[in-house]
Amino acid sequence: MRLVSFFVLLLLALLPMCDHHGHDGGHGHTTFSGERPEQLALPENLRALLREEMGLLERDMQALLGALVRGDRDRSQKLAARIRGSYILEQRLSQGELEELGRLLPEDFVELDSGFHESAGRLEEAARAGRFGDAIDLYASMSRACVQCHSQYATERFPGLRGQ
Ligand code: HEC
Repeated sequence: MRLVSFFVLLLLALLPMCDHHGHDGGHGHTTFSGERPEQLALPENLRALLREEMGLLERDMQALLGALVRGDRDRSQKLAARIRGSYILEQRLSQGELEELGRLLPEDFVELDSGFHESAGRLEEAARAGRFGDAIDLYASMSRACVQCHSQYATERFPGLRGQ
């Protein structure tokens, strides 16, 4: 099965639980706009982990831009690899668990996430080969994935992205 990033698996693992218990400590209420939650229903500790992961992602993306515009192959490659590698570790979950989780996550969420990581992998290759024009195009698609996922799953947090 396709690898899914750590934060996606984290969410996956928690979604069924949240569905069944219907509460997650105050800030985690879920409202719906169309079919999509404005905020994923997560207990605070896991939301904190997701935010932490997102904060690291933002930091690495900023550093990556700096490395790309300087034509720094090594650093660009390393940063892209780290972003791509925010994959979980198949070893943390059994194959069966992974598959079960995969069935629970909204399909487009998984697609967005894996498209994002795929672009990071291609950017890594482009940087290794010194193809910085291609790398910047991939950087742009990765940035679009941030906005797209936030506009679909995090509009309570980022109301400016409603309807994007
Ligand atoms: C597949 C979905 C998805 C993708 C792709 C994604 N995010 Fe997020 N991100 C989320 C969700 C969901 C939240 C809201 C978490 C919450 O409930 O606070 C979030 C929150 C954040 C936050 C706020 C963290 C905090 O400290 O509260 C930042 C910053 C962030 N994302 C940056 C990024 C960047 C930069 C990218 C792209 C390079 C990105 N995200 C891609 C789903 C995604």
